[in-house]
Amino acid sequence: MSLQIIVLAAGQGKRMHSSLPKVLHPIAGKPLLGHVLDTARALSPEKLVVVFGHGGDQVKAAFADQVDLVWAHQAEQLGTGHAVRQAMPHVQGGVTLILYGDVPLTRKETLEHLLAATQHCAAVGLLTDYLPEPAGYGRIVRDSDHRVIRIVEHKDASEAERAISEINTGMMAVPTARLEAWLNELRNDNAQGEYYLTDIIALAVRDGLAVNAVQPADHWEAEGVNNKLQLAQLERIYQQNQATALMTAGVTLADPARIDIRGTLAHGQDVSIDVNCVFEGHVELGNNVRIGANCVLKNVKLADNVVLHPFCHLEDAQVGAASLIGPYARLRPGAALAENVHVGNFVEIKKAEVGVGSKVNHLTYIGDARIGKGVNVGAGTITCNYDGVNKSLTVIEDDAFIGSNTCLVAPVTVGAGATTGAGSVITKPAPAGELTLSRAKQVTLAGWVRPQKKSK
Ligand code: UD1
Ligand code: MG
Repeated sequence: MSLQIIVLAAGQGKRMHSSLPKVLHPIAGKPLLGHVLDTARALSPEKLVVVFGHGGDQVKAAFADQVDLVWAHQAEQLGTGHAVRQAMPHVQGGVTLILYGDVPLTRKETLEHLLAATQHCAAVGLLTDYLPEPAGYGRIVRDSDHRVIRIVEHKDASEAERAISEINTGMMAVPTARLEAWLNELRNDNAQGEYYLTDIIALAVRDGLAVNAVQPADHWEAEGVNNKLQLAQLERIYQQNQATALMTAGVTLADPARIDIRGTLAHGQDVSIDVNCVFEGHVELGNNVRIGANCVLKNVKLADNVVLHPFCHLEDAQVGAASLIGPYARLRPGAALAENVHVGNFVEIKKAEVGVGSKVNHLTYIGDARIGKGVNVGAGTITCNYDGVNKSLTVIEDDAFIGSNTCLVAPVTVGAGATTGAGSVITKPAPAGELTLSRAKQVTLAGWVRPQKKSK
């Protein structure tokens, strides 16, 4: 059975009070629509059509790299039925699944149940839910045999119908050919003057098709985002789900309510994560990795036994096994640390390799550098990598010792086992094994006295 998916995303989202189209607002760093599309793709549809309208260029641009998408324009928002009709030229045969671009957290399994409810194109599958406060939603009207016979929108519903607690989530799976025919029969003579997609349910019943309702395992699977409050609520649910999955897989979380994963987090065994950490992009943590409180990691790989002390910020960086980082360390793009490296407080490392067992422990900037093994970089060392136009390389060979407050004016090389004196400005090669320093000679003026205030 071929599967077609139509995602409705033409609505404006007035209540977001934002210039960003609603479906581009993020949950876990990914647009609402992105969540829907990812779930849709997991069902392997033949066609994936997005109906867009408001902020169309912005929406399309945000997904420009997703070439499997088909875009259908709805110039005027005349209702959900009208929206689906804009997508029909792009779909053919089998079953069409209709999703909303602002309902991000539906489980794939729930949609599989919904598709199964079509009994191979013989029936309509409808995702409904039972809510204690159903106000605002379309209500599911059933006959005395409990068969679904139609949907009535809240604004068109009688008092008795408004008392129904079973609501339409909006998601449905419909035999495509039938859908096409029913859409052409829709009229807009209702309270909102819109073409309601929901009216096809009564048409299905008229034509003798069963309407099989299935429910999601959790209410939030069918919850949409209309305002910032709902956006935040779904964000928390999403994060809670991820925290649960991590703990189930053996990760220790100091507080599952205080972790945010905006991407993917791969991990080994015996990983522990303290409170208020944020993970973005793809992060990989080896075995026995310990992450202190308040760390932010984006596209980072930490090998086994790495300890990240609190308040570190790492982006596009790699850290070798058993290295100790922080507190208050910053690893910027291209930082590649080997095993057993120590990076301490207020140290920034960018586009630099640091060899096995080397230490950069205090108040230092290392940028555009290659540091060998067993190097000790003293407090306050700066690689002067930028002359205002070009970036140049600093090379520090194995076992070198960089004295505190050394400026290494790149391009420059410090040879193996070399030492630089504290406070030096190194502009020429520092030869291997030697002490190199550039420092004004210290003098003492014997008998010097401080200036005195003149008495009047
Ligand atoms: C719709 C359903 C209602 C259901 C509710 C669930 C209809 C007539 N009603 O009502 O039964 O309980 O969703 O949330 O279907 N959209 C377009 N183009 C349009 C109109 C809407 O793309 O012309 C999109 C919106 O962006 C949104 C979705 O369709 O993603 C639903 O539209 P919305 O206006 O929220 O429908 P409701 O009135 O809430
Ligand atoms: Mg709605």
